[in-house]
Amino acid sequence: MNNVDIEKDWNDMAQAYEDFTAGEDSYSNKIEWMAIKTMLPNLKDKRIIDLGCGTGRFSFLFEEFQPKQIVGLDMSEAMIKIGKEIKNERGSIVQFLHKNIEDMSEIQDNSFDFIFSSTTLHYIENLNRVMRDIYRILAKEGTCILSVINPVYSACYPVIKDAVSFPKDEDWTIRYLDKSLRAYIQPWIEYNDNIEDSLSYSYHHTMADYINAIVKSGIVIEELVEPLPPEEWKTCNLDRYLGYINTPVYTVFKLKKCI
Ligand SMILES: C[S@@+](CC[C@H](N)C(=O)[O-])C[C@H]1O[C@@H](n2cnc3c(N)ncnc32)[C@H](O)[C@@H]1O
Repeated sequence: MNNVDIEKDWNDMAQAYEDFTAGEDSYSNKIEWMAIKTMLPNLKDKRIIDLGCGTGRFSFLFEEFQPKQIVGLDMSEAMIKIGKEIKNERGSIVQFLHKNIEDMSEIQDNSFDFIFSSTTLHYIENLNRVMRDIYRILAKEGTCILSVINPVYSACYPVIKDAVSFPKDEDWTIRYLDKSLRAYIQPWIEYNDNIEDSLSYSYHHTMADYINAIVKSGIVIEELVEPLPPEEWKTCNLDRYLGYINTPVYTVFKLKKCI
């Protein structure tokens, strides 16, 4: 599959995604960010790059730690456009670049102290190439945090049967070692009346795929976190709590370039 399809998906979904993730009770705010916050290195005066930054949600969050520079790369112009509007409202230092992270050859070696990516690597077919670039552009002693879709969750993404068929609810079932292209309606879009349902395409990487690509790149794994949902959901939203316990959405790797 070529990147144009994924770019189009994200251009079409941009505003719906921003509305969904910006919500205070979103999975990303309540689960993903809570874990990432505890894993961050000291970011003061550091150079940060956010790969697949989308509308810049995490880039803006990093700003409170007073880094020297924050660069956000994303292939979707519509996501970046929203990000730039937020940047202007805030007077933020984040620099948005419209760029495909599958080719980072223009970025200089050792040029960032902290590399970050959230929920983007399942759109990349060849993890080895991206990991090689991450190693190359990360400064020595630099940290990289990769928050990826938990393989248990992406294993449930329906596989593509033909270009137009929509998956049924029963198609969301674990196919862990099946590497077929996945095609599904994003669950957060299914419930948004303002946007027409459309198929969204991605890959499913197993835990071995992630770990082998990281190990091959030469970066060291320091920590691997599978964040839990908030305790308060047990009382205010038990179904959501149990749903997340059964099929967790996030896995967060903390990596270090030692040599
Ligand atoms: C689920 S969104 C995550 C956005 C942001 N990281 C966040 O957490 O809010 C995935 C993002 O990855 C971007 N993306 C997918 N493939 C990409 C690629 N090859 N190069 C750059 N960006 C890509 C999409 O455009 C989209 O903005």
